[in-house]
Amino acid sequence: MKALILSGGHGTRLRPLTYSQQKQLIPVANKPVLFYAIEDVIEAGVGEIGIILGPNKEQVIETVNSVDWDAEIEFIYQGEPKGLAHAILVAEEFLGNDEFVMYLGDNILRDGIVDHSEKFKNLDPDSLILLTEVEEPQRFGVADLDEKGRVKKLIEKPKVPPSNFALAGIYFFKPVILEACKSIKPSWRNELEITDAIQWLIDNGYRVEASIVEGWWKDTGKPEDILEANRLILDGITSKMEGEITDSKIMGRVIISEGTVIKNSTVKGPCIIGEGCEVVDSYIGPFTSIGSGCTVVGTEIEDSVVMDGSEIYNAGRIVESLIGKNVKIREMDMMPKGHRFIVGDNSEMTL
Ligand code: DAU
Repeated sequence: MKALILSGGHGTRLRPLTYSQQKQLIPVANKPVLFYAIEDVIEAGVGEIGIILGPNKEQVIETVNSVDWDAEIEFIYQGEPKGLAHAILVAEEFLGNDEFVMYLGDNILRDGIVDHSEKFKNLDPDSLILLTEVEEPQRFGVADLDEKGRVKKLIEKPKVPPSNFALAGIYFFKPVILEACKSIKPSWRNELEITDAIQWLIDNGYRVEASIVEGWWKDTGKPEDILEANRLILDGITSKMEGEITDSKIMGRVIISEGTVIKNSTVKGPCIIGEGCEVVDSYIGPFTSIGSGCTVVGTEIEDSVVMDGSEIYNAGRIVESLIGKNVKIREMDMMPKGHRFIVGDNSEMTL
């Protein structure tokens, strides 16, 4: 079986972070979201992975190639994001006549895909979709199931959802899906929808089975989703201490990476601090990820993601925040008093 991982799209709901960074590269617990998908398909025994690229293609190639993966990786440029079914068509040559798993590169699944992959092999349907109960089904593709739990109908982002079962962004397919993708028309949002292609399979007598996701699943499409995914991943970490700790209190499960110095501070897990950071006179609280090369002085940070190279000085208390790369936040002790901002388009600040 092959894998097709989608790392294209504009990521508009994650602006301004996605002006400079492809959304699947945003770190969760200091690891790009995309890497969770790559690890899951490799764990399920996939040896050939195609990665769909969009606007920031060089960035994705460079980041993926910085790791020595236990699989062959091919990059496939989609150009404009014209839909998930369009991505399959663009990958036609890579997919050939093989079965494959399609994994949306902004999705994270706690328990991986090994069990679902086994189910796909054992049941041998034309497609196996992953379903999970959600609170806001109108944000997703939704499945209408019959009394035996079989898929009757799939609807993309319905105003009136027929159930709470959302399609998680992981799908197993036989090659007939290519015919389905070629047969459908663009939707109201002008995309070739994968839900329509799977519906085509159902309507044309092909067998579509569902597999229910047992552990948590997260689509990291919006800032609050990134923070939630960060909490969920950090909740499962084990402590590792490689940095240098002086006059500080470390509580709970904490990862402190090489070359990092913690001085006169309190760090309360679960949290992760990357390589080469300096944390002085500060409090790093639960569910916080601090990237590599960051400086935090005289500040409290809790329940937040701070990306590589950011510097924070005497900034008071920061909570539930997403802070991009190389950001500088500092208290300025000069007149006239007041906040001084250089903030990019579509930024959000709560004072
Ligand atoms: O996350 C699960 C949901 O994903 C499903 O419930 C929906 O049925 C499915 O349509 C999809 O909905 P989204 O609106 O969340 O899809 P989004 O446009 O965010 O794209 C999902 C991923 O695929 C994202 O990582 C970007 C990438 N992508 C998207 C499009 C449209 C591409 O690589 N190429 C594309 O053309």
